[in-house]
Amino acid sequence: MRISVTGCGYLGAVHAAAMAQLGHDVIGIDVDEAKIAALAVGRPPFYEPGLSELLTETIASGRLRFTTDASQAFDATVHFIAVGTPQTRDGNAADLRFVDAAVDALLPHLEPGHVVVGKSTVPVGTSAALAERIRPTGARLLWNPEFLREGYAVRDTVEPDRLVYGVETGDEASVAVLDEVYAHALEKGTPRMVTDLATAELVKVAANAYLATKISFINAMAEIAEATGADVTQLADALGYDNRIGRRFLNAGVGFGGGCLPKDIRAFTARADELGRSDALAFLKEVDAINLRRRRRVVDLATAELGGSVVGRKVAVLGVTFKPHSDDVRDSPALDVAVALKGLGANVVAADPRGVANARARHPQLEYAEETKDALRGADLVILVTEWPEYTGLDPVATRELVAQPIVIDGRNALDRDAWAAAGWRYRGMGRS
Ligand code: UDX
Repeated sequence: MRISVTGCGYLGAVHAAAMAQLGHDVIGIDVDEAKIAALAVGRPPFYEPGLSELLTETIASGRLRFTTDASQAFDATVHFIAVGTPQTRDGNAADLRFVDAAVDALLPHLEPGHVVVGKSTVPVGTSAALAERIRPTGARLLWNPEFLREGYAVRDTVEPDRLVYGVETGDEASVAVLDEVYAHALEKGTPRMVTDLATAELVKVAANAYLATKISFINAMAEIAEATGADVTQLADALGYDNRIGRRFLNAGVGFGGGCLPKDIRAFTARADELGRSDALAFLKEVDAINLRRRRRVVDLATAELGGSVVGRKVAVLGVTFKPHSDDVRDSPALDVAVALKGLGANVVAADPRGVANARARHPQLEYAEETKDALRGADLVILVTEWPEYTGLDPVATRELVAQPIVIDGRNALDRDAWAAAGWRYRGMGRS
């Protein structure tokens, strides 16, 4: 198939490369010249495991090209839209300006038989309006939400756990086209559901709302555990044995962040307000509030552990990305904690295996250590906020030699508490003592 992918960020760049690996002829399009220049020579503009190798292989095969010139989409028949839908500056709603611009750029090149496939996360109702705009060209619109997780994006794209196609009534031709695009996954038995446009849009935001709720649920339990002396990690284990609940996404800690869950639940509540259904999603405001309280909890705990004031105290913050195996610092709880402590007067030294460049661009006021041990040396307090294996695997005995005071806050409940305590550390977890 000849495919164009508009938007070469975390979603689109991986999608373009994965489609090329599956044998399609792909052109990736983005307005960001620096990003396209890097991708064109096989250099990912962000860190995603396996992407570098995939780009090198598919570019060399001749099946993957990148350009800033949208008119290069002309010889493709399937046009994926994978641009970002960030939170608006002045509210909670999703900013659809990049989706609109992508469609505008594609319109002159669309013909009967072409299929535009939306992958971006959009408020329910968006795709119906886009379908109307595209209709005069004779092309059709299909909504095909993406569920990839950063850190596993390549695998999730090549081997998705399900495929959802949102189509207009009776549009079997577009379904057949997308079946050809995803032939590899379908042959392997990947479940594929055909729905209407609105349902497909909702599947994505509902999934993210559910995941965010699950995390905030266990973090609410952490708050109760903190007031009662219970242990939230044992609680999560015990709950998780119930198959109806399951253990995944029940890790209490500093909460969720990143480019998806926080902005998606806010955009979802904003859309419910527009639909006159505010009550239906009122709980998501609470989910958001619980989540943000966890960041404050770490800061309060740090202040308490340092005797009521962090002013002038060296705090080693381990991790700045919103989760491990990514360089993404968008809405990162870890970075928020570092910035808040710095704002309170602490001498914060942050470290991260992949995220320092992005963090520095956003928060140049923070001090960053190239090596973990430079952050740790002389620290009055160590805070683990992103569970990179480099940090969860730290040797508590050797680490103790580096710091000024052996106090550790485990913002992800990811350290071996007993081993750290045995090495002489004062250990403070989240929802556990
Ligand atoms: C998420 C969804 O998982 C994915 O399906 C969707 O397409 C995009 O949004 P991603 O943002 O890559 O993917 O991250 P995810 O792995 O879901 O983690 C989100 C956040 O939740 C991270 O900050 C993570 O640390 C946190 N988290 C996750 C917890 O705090 N506890 C958990 O138990 C799990």
